[in-house]
Amino acid sequence: YIPLKELFKDHFFVGAAITPAHTDIRTPHGRTLVEHFNSVTAENVMKPDAIQRIKGTFTWTEADRIVQFAKENNMKVRGHTLTWHSQTPDWFFFDQTGALLSKDIALKQLEEHITAVMTRYRGMIDSWDVVNEALFDWDPDGQIIYREDSPWYKIIGESYIDSAFVYAHRADPDAKLFYNDYNSIFSWKRNKIFDLVKRLKDNNIPIHGIGLQGHWFVGTSVEDLRTTLELFRGLGVEIQITELDLSVYLSSNEPGSVVYTDEFNTRQRIAYPEIFRVLLDYSDAIAGVTFWGIGDDASWLDTPGRKHFPFLLNEQLQPKPAYFDVQRLL
Ligand code: XIL
Repeated sequence: YIPLKELFKDHFFVGAAITPAHTDIRTPHGRTLVEHFNSVTAENVMKPDAIQRIKGTFTWTEADRIVQFAKENNMKVRGHTLTWHSQTPDWFFFDQTGALLSKDIALKQLEEHITAVMTRYRGMIDSWDVVNEALFDWDPDGQIIYREDSPWYKIIGESYIDSAFVYAHRADPDAKLFYNDYNSIFSWKRNKIFDLVKRLKDNNIPIHGIGLQGHWFVGTSVEDLRTTLELFRGLGVEIQITELDLSVYLSSNEPGSVVYTDEFNTRQRIAYPEIFRVLLDYSDAIAGVTFWGIGDDASWLDTPGRKHFPFLLNEQLQPKPAYFDVQRLL
């Protein structure tokens, strides 16, 4: 086989979401990272609850390890993430009594967080997910635009998004600034992302890219993917697939398995090359594809009795049959 980063070197960088433990090159994970990937994302340790769990107390150790590893091995880093409703400590939003903070205080705290984190890693991060998952998810009628359960939205309204990008650009003018979301290829969400990014650009807000998380499954519609890439490319922003995993299940009702069956293998041998065919067709707009993990031994999707086997590398971190099908596209 040809390592992933070599395979795609004329098209896009190939990344993986990792934990600090994965940076030890004496371990199989460390070796696999160096062999296959030229970009990394911290799966958790750059999130607000990891870096500033307590107001004013910053914990850099784990994030530093990942950035250092990337530097030593000539890899890019995607910064993930600065402004999110999840994995963000309560003090960002609530006072001692549990009441929502004022708009001014919440914005100031957001600015301080973004400035501290981006200043520490200035010049070392290729792209930052400045705002993550701000749009309402399940809404085929298009009635509700923003995720209204986000405390950022509750306190500030939609302008927190604009502010976050302005703070981020000030803190690291060279980093590419991304809006990142999931379910992005479904029509109702894709149009909201388009409208949001269009509005930001029209208002001269510094935004440079759209991250499609890419938590897909073997039944994902490549036509929806194509339509989405076509639409987003028209905005003139960079596109990245930021959290790719391709679950072997057709639906959440399908019984779970901890064994990679022939059926799973067949499904992925069809779906993986189909998806990469489309990504290659749009590689002029796509700068990078990041998997949300390394190999099938561990995925955030897995639960007891139900493994998702979502990657191109198996539980032993070796190429699966679908890997070779993808390789044949190049
Ligand atoms: C997930 C991590 O993989 C898990 O380890 C953690 O428990 C929860 O978050 N969208 C995102 C990522 O933007 O940050 C999420 O990562 C997966 C969904």
